[in-house]
Amino acid sequence: MYCKNFGFAAGNSNCDLYQKSLHRMATYPVEVVLLEHYGAAVGEESMTPFATAIQTAEDTRSAVENSYRLTGDVTKTTEESTRFVLVRSPDYLSRQGDYDHCDRADGQVHYKSTGRKGKELEIIMKVTLGPKNCLYPILTTLVGANVNGKPNYITIAHVGIMDYGSISLGMGKIHYTNAGIKENGCFSVNIPSVDMVKETDYCGIVSGKKTDKAKLFENFYGKLKTAPMIKQCPINMECKLIQIVDFPKHDIFIGEIVETYIEEDCVKDGVVDYGKVHPLYFSMDGPNYWKLGEPFAKAWHVGKELKKA
Ligand SMILES: Cc1cc2nc3c(=O)[nH]c(=O)nc-3n(C[C@H](O)[C@H](O)[C@H](O)COP(=O)(O)O)c2cc1C
Repeated sequence: MYCKNFGFAAGNSNCDLYQKSLHRMATYPVEVVLLEHYGAAVGEESMTPFATAIQTAEDTRSAVENSYRLTGDVTKTTEESTRFVLVRSPDYLSRQGDYDHCDRADGQVHYKSTGRKGKELEIIMKVTLGPKNCLYPILTTLVGANVNGKPNYITIAHVGIMDYGSISLGMGKIHYTNAGIKENGCFSVNIPSVDMVKETDYCGIVSGKKTDKAKLFENFYGKLKTAPMIKQCPINMECKLIQIVDFPKHDIFIGEIVETYIEEDCVKDGVVDYGKVHPLYFSMDGPNYWKLGEPFAKAWHVGKELKKA
C-alpha cells in the first residue's frame, strides 16, 4: 500500500461492523467507492487505480474480520482497523487537515472531525445506480380488453393513478391488447390476489395473438358492455378510455373509472380490506412477486405528532 493509494474495507460479513466502519470512513475527506463483496475501497485521490484499491481492500478486510473474530466487539474492531490503517499508511491520518486531534502515542487513536467536510462526504456515502426506476414493488394487474370481439388479458404492472378517479397504463405498442382498447374505447383493470400468481405471470408471458388466455378465467361484462373482467379477481375496475399519450415505444392509456366491483368479504362500509384482497406486487429487481405487509400507521394522522413538537 502506498500513502497516496489507500484502500479500506470492512468485514461485511458483519453488517454492524461494516456500517460502523463506513461511517467512520465517511468522516475522512476521501473518496469512498462501495465494492460489492469487498466492503469499501477508499481512494485518496479520484485517480486511484482500482486494482490497487481492491487489493488493499481485501487485505484490510481480512485484518478486520480477523480482529472481529478475536474480539467479537465492533468498537474494538473499529479501533483495531484504524490502527491497521496507521501501520499500513503511517502518515495518513496526520495529513488530514480536517481533524482537531490525532494521537497515536498511547496506541489508541483519538480524533474528532471539525465537520468542515461532513455534508459533502455524506453524499459520497451513497452509491449511484444510474437512472434506475426504484418505484417498485408495485401492484400487478390484469388489464382486460376485447380484441376482435373476444376477451383478452395482459399483465400490467406499470399502472398509475392520474387523479383519484383515473388510471394510466404504460403498455408496449407491440402488445396484442392495445388494439382492443383503441377499438372499444374501454378496458378493465383486474386486481389478482397472490393465489393467482401463476395465471398472472402466464398472462404476462403469453400473447393473445396466439393463445386464448381468457379461457383461464370466468369472464363477465358490466356497464360498458365491452370491457371484459375476471370473476376470480377480488377487485375489477371498469374504465372508459379518455386519452392516449403517444410515447415512442408505449401507448399510455388513460381511463376514467366508471364502476368498481369487489368481492363482498373484501369490503366493509365501502372501505376495502386489502388484507383480504391479498394483492400481488411486482418488482423489476429480481424480478420478483411480493406480498403486502401490515398497515402500521394512520395516514393524515401520524404526522400530526411532529406538529406538536
Ligand atoms: C409481472 C409482469 C408485469 C408486466 N408489466 C407490463 C407493463 O407494465 N407494461 C407492458 O407493456 N408489458 C408488461 N408486461 C408484459 C406483457 O404482459 C406481456 O408481453 C404480454 O404477454 C402481452 O400480452 P398480449 O400480447 O396478449 O397483449 C408484464 C409482464 C409481467 C410478467
